[in-house]
Amino acid sequence: MPKIKRTREPRGNKHNRNCVVDLFGSYKGADAFVMGTGTSLAGFDWTSMNDKLTIALNDAVKAPGFKPKFHIFCDVGIWARYRNMNYPEGCAMVCQKRARAQFLRWEHWKDPDQVFHFNHVSMPDQMTDVDDSLYVSRTVATGGITLAWKLGARRIFLLGVDGYKFSDRYYYDGSTKRPEKRREVKAGDGRISQDRHEWWRQNMNKLRDFFRKRNLFLGPWPKSGVYNLSPFSTIESWEKVPPKTVLGAELCPIEVDSEPSIRSIIYQPRKWSLPYGVKHRSEAQALFWSVEQAAKLKSPHFVEIGTGQGYTARGVVDLLARLERKSVFTSFDIQDMAGFWKAHVESAIKPPIKAQHLVFPGPEGVSLDWGDRGVAWVFVDGCYCHDCVRDAIEAWSPLVAPGGFLVFNRYRGIVSRRVGLQPYHGDPYRPAEVKRAVDTWLPKTFERVKLRRSLYIARRI
Ligand SMILES: C[S@@+](CC[C@H](N)C(=O)[O-])C[C@H]1O[C@@H](n2cnc3c(N)ncnc32)[C@H](O)[C@@H]1O
Repeated sequence: MPKIKRTREPRGNKHNRNCVVDLFGSYKGADAFVMGTGTSLAGFDWTSMNDKLTIALNDAVKAPGFKPKFHIFCDVGIWARYRNMNYPEGCAMVCQKRARAQFLRWEHWKDPDQVFHFNHVSMPDQMTDVDDSLYVSRTVATGGITLAWKLGARRIFLLGVDGYKFSDRYYYDGSTKRPEKRREVKAGDGRISQDRHEWWRQNMNKLRDFFRKRNLFLGPWPKSGVYNLSPFSTIESWEKVPPKTVLGAELCPIEVDSEPSIRSIIYQPRKWSLPYGVKHRSEAQALFWSVEQAAKLKSPHFVEIGTGQGYTARGVVDLLARLERKSVFTSFDIQDMAGFWKAHVESAIKPPIKAQHLVFPGPEGVSLDWGDRGVAWVFVDGCYCHDCVRDAIEAWSPLVAPGGFLVFNRYRGIVSRRVGLQPYHGDPYRPAEVKRAVDTWLPKTFERVKLRRSLYIARRI
């Protein structure tokens, strides 16, 4: 049990005692691990966490051999799941007052002092640093994070908080939920993201913004921050850090579909929010098909205009690594995307692949040395306005080797009727007009080989 510092005299009524406030600041400067039950923890040795400050979310407390320091749940109704279990020794339970009252009434519960109550708030702004509230809206994981913050943790790590499931398994132990009607999006690599996961992402973003406003947990790694150790988690609110860096070991590699197929490398976590990179499976297949074809050229150079958060870059680098083709991938962005590059791409780069992110306007990238063979593949995914796409075509088309590719994102579809997404030129938003630019300026030396939704692929004849 943690050392309990009583911040106030317990009031006479036993139901008011053991407030979570009594625990605040008891782990100043510690690393806290918020443990979920996602499939990324399949085969995980939970006992390896027993010497750490751990907060088990819901049924994570039941993991074999695991002795968390805290166990938090928010739904009052699920208290009965824990009343008869062999509760881990030294673990403090944190739940709502009404759930605590159930334990106090339950005759077999040995130690009422083990149970602490918190006040549940559904907006982060309703919390203060010192009150008894924790933020839980759609996921108890935000409760775990806010508890860790109030305990005084300096760094908070999320493990098993995945934001996706597989068709045949939902939890780390291979079990699944009862069939339920939910909106689902399949990533193409086996991961299924449900509407509940979209809520989780929104809740996490709200909490991240709350911390930012208070200059808390700003990171980057390894400074004080909240870090996600689930490599394929669809929750992008927190910086992802490879588990090996923190735990000294990888998680078991039974993750997403390991078959070396292009379908397994689609990185599209935010399906319902602002579109970027490649959005649909058919587009992703076509995009990676063009990469595979271009990789057949000699010493191929791959170019991306618009690194953004590095999702396409990660997919391409992964595929090149699987193909084991000696190749160079260069991604340009007018903004410094080094943080995203580090978080999403860097860990995937291994010889014989070289990859770099350069803060450079895409069309000006042609001035670098591209050797005699030119480039094999250029993905135009920077600004979608007519002038920027035209400039990219004019700059890069002469450099593309015969048999090489020019690939355009947002050629058609809803985005091409919208105004541009960002004022990349310093002037106001411009309409997204990839189609007009491609139809007008693409030289006759290129032929269209594929058009999948809004992805347009042209090959140099
Ligand atoms: C839609 S995002 C790119 C998404 C990225 N391809 C991915 O898959 O995650 C557009 C990016 O293009 C960058 N950008 C805009 N104009 C550019 C230009 N002229 N040269 C290079 N990058 C540019 C923006 O800074 C932004 O980060």
